[in-house]
Amino acid sequence: MIVKDTQFASFQQYSILIFFRLYILLLMRHVKTFFIKTYGCQMNELDSEIMVGLLKSRGLERIDDETTADLILLNTCSIRDLAERKALGKLGRLAKTRKNSALIGVAGCMANAKKEALLQKVPNIDFVLGTNNIHELNTVLDEVLRTGNQSVRVDPRFEHELDYQITVRDDPVKAHVSIIRGCDKYCTYCVVPYTRGPEVSRHPDDIFLECKQLVDKGYKEITLLGQNVNSYGKDKPEWNILFHDLLHRIDSLEGLERVRFMTSHPVDITRELMEAIRDLPTLCEFVHFPLQAGSNRILKKMHRIYTKEEYFEKVALLRSIVPNVALGTDIIVGFPTETDAEFEETRKALEEIRFSVGFIFAYSQRKGTPAMRWKDDIPQEVKDERLQTLLHLQEQIYKDERTKLLGQTLEVLVEAPSKREETLLKGRTRCWKNVLFPGTPDLVGTLQQIKVHSFTNQTLMGEILQPKKLLIVGA
Ligand code: 5AD
Ligand code: SF4
Repeated sequence: MIVKDTQFASFQQYSILIFFRLYILLLMRHVKTFFIKTYGCQMNELDSEIMVGLLKSRGLERIDDETTADLILLNTCSIRDLAERKALGKLGRLAKTRKNSALIGVAGCMANAKKEALLQKVPNIDFVLGTNNIHELNTVLDEVLRTGNQSVRVDPRFEHELDYQITVRDDPVKAHVSIIRGCDKYCTYCVVPYTRGPEVSRHPDDIFLECKQLVDKGYKEITLLGQNVNSYGKDKPEWNILFHDLLHRIDSLEGLERVRFMTSHPVDITRELMEAIRDLPTLCEFVHFPLQAGSNRILKKMHRIYTKEEYFEKVALLRSIVPNVALGTDIIVGFPTETDAEFEETRKALEEIRFSVGFIFAYSQRKGTPAMRWKDDIPQEVKDERLQTLLHLQEQIYKDERTKLLGQTLEVLVEAPSKREETLLKGRTRCWKNVLFPGTPDLVGTLQQIKVHSFTNQTLMGEILQPKKLLIVGA
């Protein structure tokens, strides 16, 4: 009897196993739709566009409803604590709102920062895919579907070039193109060198080919992306090409209207780059090169490898070579040990330089960064106060700048109909200013001359001077 019972038990186990495998197979067939949410920077946005392409290439349909999707993918950011908390909060809510059988994948910088620990924190995650493992998305998905096990793929450096042909872009006018990944600068507060790894430049022929294909498809503006685009080519001396050379090559593309680049480290901004901005018709007169702080002691502690004086010299040189250039910056307030007097130096620097775009952040302590060895000693109220002071100053600068533009005519690339009002179109000037004006959707993708008559918050309002339609070759 006992023997019989045992046989029955093992048969039962066997049936459960078969049933489980059938269930997995059934599930596999049912991964038909996916929902993707992106946090953070433009590089993450581009990575999401590539992941959308990879998932579509295996027949999955992208949907906007996370409650019915078969796969939910979060492309996360780790730059500040708030960014991580947002993604973790979302993962917590998804546990309740997702369809029961839905798979959950976490990609992006938080995947690299937390790795396996993420599975302990949020047990219902099915896979963790690092920033350097995007090419493995479909392999990981197959593995999870086949085995039912959780999977973690996180490589420390970018070693497998991606198939950028697969990218699915929602925007028909502007495209992001990756030219260098990772960062070798190791600013003491920043997680990027650890989450994205060291700098790896992309081959110039691949970049040029992708840009050409985009122009052939009708794209008018290309933004070249990298954590520090100015380092382009330095890791591959055998290619004998630097960032300004690449810009010269891309500028030659017939039909391309505008080229931008993001982001620059001040140390690597060369005279050749400044001259390229002056000389190349496509290259927009806007440079985002983060100052981060206005005190030399803090800059040194941040390992920014320039002094305030050197930064000011670069600004002066850039403005002498490209007089109409607009500048953008990132600033961190409340870095460990920052005194009131040192903060005042940052405020004064902003007042003097008068950036057209300023992103101001409160310091946020990040695990694994060198700044972790210092106490996060600036009280939150002081950080908030400093943040508000700079935001207020920046707002005044925006206002002054926009007041000067009243009555002027600016070249605007029409990007899309405004989401707020159907009869309005939105676009940007070469210097990255938002403009709204009445117009019809057939003007999207064209360059228009807009006469500015007013402004609200951060947007200029205007009218088109004699609308110019898109010239269709052969028509
Ligand atoms: N805390 C606050 N801001 C940070 N940044 C990077 N790391 C931190 C941090 N730990 C800011 C820098 C950088 C921008 C992308 O984010 O200003 O330029
Ligand atoms: Fe981070 Fe500094 Fe690299 Fe920018 S340059 S990504 S702030 S380490």
